[in-house]
Amino acid sequence: MNILLIGSGGREHALAWKLIRSPRCNKLYIAPGNAGTDMCGENIALDVLNFSAVAEFVRAHGVGMVVVGPEEPLVKGISDYLLSQNDLNNLLVIGPGMAGAQLEGSKDFSKEFMQRHKIPTARYRTFQKPQLAEAIDYVQAHKLPVVLKADGLAAGKGVVICFSHQDAVHELKSMLRDEKFGAAGEKVVIEEFLSGIEVSVFALTDGRNYVLLPEAKDYKRIGEGDTGLNTGGMGAVSPVIFADNIFMEKVRTRIIEPTVQGLINENIHYCGFLFFGLIKVNGEPYVIEYNCRMGDPETEVVIPRINNDLIDLFEHAARGTLNNMTIDTDPRHAVTVVAVSGGYPGKYEKGKEISGINADDKHTVVFHAGTTLKEGNIVTSGGRVLAVTSRADKMEDALLLSYAALKSVNYEGINYRKDIGLDVIKLAESLSA
Ligand code: AMP
Ligand code: GLY
Repeated sequence: MNILLIGSGGREHALAWKLIRSPRCNKLYIAPGNAGTDMCGENIALDVLNFSAVAEFVRAHGVGMVVVGPEEPLVKGISDYLLSQNDLNNLLVIGPGMAGAQLEGSKDFSKEFMQRHKIPTARYRTFQKPQLAEAIDYVQAHKLPVVLKADGLAAGKGVVICFSHQDAVHELKSMLRDEKFGAAGEKVVIEEFLSGIEVSVFALTDGRNYVLLPEAKDYKRIGEGDTGLNTGGMGAVSPVIFADNIFMEKVRTRIIEPTVQGLINENIHYCGFLFFGLIKVNGEPYVIEYNCRMGDPETEVVIPRINNDLIDLFEHAARGTLNNMTIDTDPRHAVTVVAVSGGYPGKYEKGKEISGINADDKHTVVFHAGTTLKEGNIVTSGGRVLAVTSRADKMEDALLLSYAALKSVNYEGINYRKDIGLDVIKLAESLSA
């Protein structure tokens, strides 16, 4: 089968790396891809938000399956567009339509959805632009800290946790009145702060059945010890020790199943990944957010732990037959450590030549995120540059492998956290003591 994979990050390199391991993969195209995906297939300079150009490419290259990595094309309706083309009615598309993608595209929609289907989440209220005065009164009476969320997509920056009422009012005004996040902030969700430990849970659904994928924990802050600014993700580990059987059973029955059933009840057909950003509070799971795609860098640890043929899995998802599938999970630990550009998540320079990428691909894989090819050299092209994934029986050993591989990588300004996974190891030690 010829496959078109949409996206250009570490997530897409990990998906591409896995897709080409399927004997069913004929030609893999990645649009637009990066220097890593270029080693797996053919990068295509397509504007992925120009859906008619994507459909033209599908027609011209006999593509049988489109896999959509990032949220933006999904929220903007790429799947609906492709599936509505009369001459593409055999095309398999992995990724929900616009209606399902609202679970990520609108925080207000996702909160209302959770309320309708009694899915545990933080208490909240939504305010619109003309309700600024009311929102200020509400936030001033709210207990601290208080969480403000821009309703729409804001490139991961739309959530602000405020520790004083003054900050909260200031933030509220900049979102609702001053349009800090543009149209994404025309509605703001104000919600209670939940204190606990976060875990990312993933399901692949065909709209009726689902399979649970390995869970992961990501490290969002730039600094060691979870300090400093939020980033797209500085590393991830899988499995996650505190996501034990008892907890995961609660996640299935109280969160995943009501979500899939809720979509069915609302006539929203959903084929693709459901990403549950969860927080465990006193042993109980709550949804912090939904995403309509895989996580990044979580994909770089989740995908290497799946032994199944990914094309098989995707085909069953697209044809509504996931009830015939079970996930064959690699019991080893996978970790990924993300190397970023100097200055990220603030301002950073691009175009730095990268050297010393060498890994055996068996125990350690260097996934590319923000890289590109320039005159035959691999250079940086984004904030997150590489995600170095390793697998081993023990998490400690996987971490040693990734850090050893990173030692030989060099580009001007390289930065990475040295403490990925250490909190989970400590927790494991304290639980077994
Ligand atoms: P999001 O952009 O929705 O992933 O939110 C970013 C981060 O903000 C989450 O990963 C959490 O760490 C934090 N966060 C969001 N909502 C809450 C909440 N209600 N309570 C505590 N932390 C939250
Ligand atoms: N790593 C979190 C995300 O992909 O949203």
